[in-house]
Amino acid sequence: MILADKTPNQTPHLPLGDQRTSPWYGKSIVSVKQFSRDDLTYIFEVAHEMREMVERIGTFDLLKGKILANLFYEPSTRTASSFTAAMERLGGSVIPINEVKYSSVAKGESLPDTVRSLECYSDVVVLRHPEIGASALAAKYARKPVINGGDGAGEHPTQALLDLFTIIEEHGQPDGLTITMLGDLKHGRTVHSLSRLLSLYDVRLNYVSPEILRMSSEIIKEIDEKGIPQSEYNELEEPLPETDVLYVTRVQKERFDDPEEYEKVKGAYVITPATLESAKEAMVLMHPLPRVGEISMELDDDPRAAYFRQMEYGMYVRMALLAMVLGKA
Ligand code: NCD
Repeated sequence: MILADKTPNQTPHLPLGDQRTSPWYGKSIVSVKQFSRDDLTYIFEVAHEMREMVERIGTFDLLKGKILANLFYEPSTRTASSFTAAMERLGGSVIPINEVKYSSVAKGESLPDTVRSLECYSDVVVLRHPEIGASALAAKYARKPVINGGDGAGEHPTQALLDLFTIIEEHGQPDGLTITMLGDLKHGRTVHSLSRLLSLYDVRLNYVSPEILRMSSEIIKEIDEKGIPQSEYNELEEPLPETDVLYVTRVQKERFDDPEEYEKVKGAYVITPATLESAKEAMVLMHPLPRVGEISMELDDDPRAAYFRQMEYGMYVRMALLAMVLGKA
């Protein structure tokens, strides 16, 4: 009988803190407003180490014995699977609840009760929910960390972190860059979080959208108070030549009350090779995905197209966040 595991310890030399003094230990991540520039530097440092470890050994035991509950009330491909991959790469395991119709949610259970049940079996909960503020509510009731995987048209902090990590990997520090966000800026939670996060840097922000899909005045005011120049446009033509990062989003069909309004704006922008003729050679083209026609597949081989690299970076950032809230980084 094997009494002790004699395999050599594969735990990496990450900046491991004493978990009781680690500032993120046990904390929920519900909004990008929680992060300072120093926090971001730290998260990306850990994400880098995660990348190196994955490239070197694939999977290691930093979170061995820990369990993540992945609770998704809305569809997801990338967020759910990259959190699963992140947890498994760190040696932990996952309880996936993707189809809430098969769980007690379908019987009318409240979110606080579902989260308080799941945390009995797990160490951290990732929550995606259609209502703004759902993660904050869950975090209020939970004893274990809750990570916001998207709360309706509210925020998507882990996506914004991986978006910023992508910008830094592709361009270096964001200071001095012009970032143009295009598409559904009203309902798109990724741009709500990303614009707030970028306002910690010396950037210029352009917003391109149809009139009815403008960035909310509340967010514009918040960012304005940080002294960040912001401009709004209906068309991409004018801001494109000065753009360093073009961040494209899909029109969020599921958030429209009136399907006719969606029909009016659904094909508002399509980025093709011809569109990018006036763009900088070193511009980076990003998209949180899924795309539903906003970026032509003909651009996929253009070196400026970063959306698939962006997706891969997401796993490293999520590995860093899991290690942090579980006191291992
Ligand atoms: C985004 C989301 O869910 O907000 N997707 C993602 O997490 N990568 C973007 C979208 O759905 O349009």
